[in-house]
Amino acid sequence: MTARTLALANLKGGCGKSTLALNLAAGLARRGRTALVDADPQGALRHWTDWASQQEVLPRVLSGEGDPVACLIDAEREHDFVVVDCPPSLDMHITVKLLEHVESVLIPVLPSPLDLWASAGTVDAVRKARDVNPGLRAWLVLNQTEPKSALSRAMAVAVASLELPVIDTPVRRRAAFRLSVVEGMSVYQLGARGVAAMQEIEQVIEEIMQR
Ligand SMILES: Nc1ncnc2c1ncn2[C@@H]1O[C@H](COP(=O)(O)OP(=O)(O)OP(=O)(O)O)[C@@H](O)[C@H]1O
Ligand SMILES: [Mg+2]
Repeated sequence: MTARTLALANLKGGCGKSTLALNLAAGLARRGRTALVDADPQGALRHWTDWASQQEVLPRVLSGEGDPVACLIDAEREHDFVVVDCPPSLDMHITVKLLEHVESVLIPVLPSPLDLWASAGTVDAVRKARDVNPGLRAWLVLNQTEPKSALSRAMAVAVASLELPVIDTPVRRRAAFRLSVVEGMSVYQLGARGVAAMQEIEQVIEEIMQR
């Protein structure tokens, strides 16, 4: 059986890759055996793991240090779902190698035209990876949106220029997402404080899981 694999990638830093990776992995862990591969040499999730290992957290977090692609291939053998947190900027070749291998990629983008344009290099990485992995499914996901940040005209133009579909559910800027990382758990473990965030993550998972 092959695992379903999902990468979170954006060569631009700070758009929410790690936050979404760990929360999506937590949601997938309720559906099957799930691993979360930390492919960022800076290892943002590693700190989370040290902390989370003391708590009841379901996805297995694997350090991709050294050879993240090999780590991904290993993880696929033993899991139903593998989520990969890709590194920012300097490591484009690592991201492309990972994208050559996964079934799907989500590109988190902040809801501003500037941020969207800054993500064009990541869309190029998707195109490159598709030379080797033509079936690669790719979406943008708007992250850290505000209730009133309806798609402005400039935003709509910027989104269209990237020529990738956008996940229907925008992920709102929520204290629960920040808290989840700080407290070393996913929004699924935050009880009432995490419900709205959890529902968004569930909707994103449902959309990606449809084939
Ligand atoms: N939906 C959200 N609501 C509130 N805060 C968020 C949300 N998504 C991300 N953040 C916060 O934004 C910051 C950047 O997020 P994160 O570390 O996940 O980005 P990243 O893309 O992994 O960054 P890097 O490129 O440095 O690895 C963090 O402080 C995180 O808590
Ligand atoms: Mg990160």
